[in-house]
Amino acid sequence: MDKIIVNGPCKLKGEVTISGAKNAAVAILPATLLVEGKCHLENVPNISDIRAFIKILESLGSKIEYISEHEMIIDNSNIHTTTAPYDLTSKFRASYYLLGALLGKYGTAQISLPGGCNIGARPIDQHIKAFECLGSHIEVKRGNVYADAKKLKASSIFFDVVTVGATINAILAATLAEGTTTIENCAKEPHVVDVANFLNSVGAKIKGAGTDVIKVTGVERLTQTSSYAVIPDQIEAGTFMVAAAATQGDVLIKNCIPKHMEPITAKLVEAGAIVEEFEDSIHISMTKQPKPINVKTMPYPGFPTDMQPQIAVFLTKAKGSSLIVESIWESRFQYTSELVKMGANISYHDRTAMITGVDELYGSPVKSYDLRAGAAMIIAGLIAHGKTEIYEIQHIERGYENIVSKFKALGADIEYGSIEE
Ligand code: EPZ
Repeated sequence: MDKIIVNGPCKLKGEVTISGAKNAAVAILPATLLVEGKCHLENVPNISDIRAFIKILESLGSKIEYISEHEMIIDNSNIHTTTAPYDLTSKFRASYYLLGALLGKYGTAQISLPGGCNIGARPIDQHIKAFECLGSHIEVKRGNVYADAKKLKASSIFFDVVTVGATINAILAATLAEGTTTIENCAKEPHVVDVANFLNSVGAKIKGAGTDVIKVTGVERLTQTSSYAVIPDQIEAGTFMVAAAATQGDVLIKNCIPKHMEPITAKLVEAGAIVEEFEDSIHISMTKQPKPINVKTMPYPGFPTDMQPQIAVFLTKAKGSSLIVESIWESRFQYTSELVKMGANISYHDRTAMITGVDELYGSPVKSYDLRAGAAMIIAGLIAHGKTEIYEIQHIERGYENIVSKFKALGADIEYGSIEE
């Protein structure tokens, strides 16, 4: 399908069930390379980034047996190469986890420089620093990254910036290394904790995940004794929360972890939404125009950068002016030009955007600049008058499972369409 068509406005109403977390699953899949024998995973989202990762694992020699759409057994007993195919790894960012996992298990890895959403420079210097601290030789040459180590040895790693990817990669590489590695200035995102929980469930010794300092004591081997379920997706849940509030709807978000949602919940409540938290669900409703709020994206437990475009759409109809400061990715306001086409009043300079609420947005053809900006365009279509056509939806499909049918079940007038030649 080529585009998503939304006819707005609507008020979302009903229940939605959140899928497994993309950013946890894209790290846990490569983490299975460290494990002897088979790994049984549940709650794996059926999204294009995961399907691509599975193709990469198969190209290395993994055998994948699907038990159901979200449950699989991965057998990595016959890995025959540590070189991942260029065409697959160059397309998405999370392929960098193959470096930590393959290096940790086999002492060598080769991948292309990782691709991914166009939201900023996306360097990998901190990943390289972590691997070098553990005794690996790294070479970046003609678009490829080569990693080699005779034996990885525990070390102290201090990150210059808080980085999710490098924190997880350091954990992956240190899990089978000799001795205890201390990793400081770590990312604390729920997916970092989930990867550590998965590895601990198969015999790793990782302490402190979810805090600034993680200690990894190397073990000789990892084996799985019972299946592991990936956590629910914090950003998918947040996207539906914001969509519910933006449409002045009333939605129960099922299969989420309310604790993970707190930075998003706090901002929505500040803007006037009513949020009730249950054990594994959140009820959100809103009956009035949002109050303007200021938002600054920060590493967890701050407000997530991956929710920045969605909250921006919500604020396009606030009663006054809001400021958004993007402190993680330097190019994450490109999508605002699409909202301006729809009648929004947004200007930005450098890393700060000012959004002044307008009475109405109007449907228009818009494009998805990246995964989260694409989801934000759907929310914009839901609150706008008339028809919004969203192009370049391959970005959205990377990270949201059944997004069209989930919104449709909440009462949205939304469907896929084809682009006529
Ligand atoms: C992860 O990207 C997520 N992707 C991103 O989600 C998310 O936006 C980001 O974390 C921040 O939360 C995955 O988990 C696959 P970082 P990652 O390393 O790991 C700088 C989405 O929409 N940095 O935490 O690539 C970097 O430039 C995606 O699902 C270095 O300077 O992000 C950035 O400013 C988009 N050197 C900051 O750190 C490095 O070696 C945080 O990046 C690495 C990062």
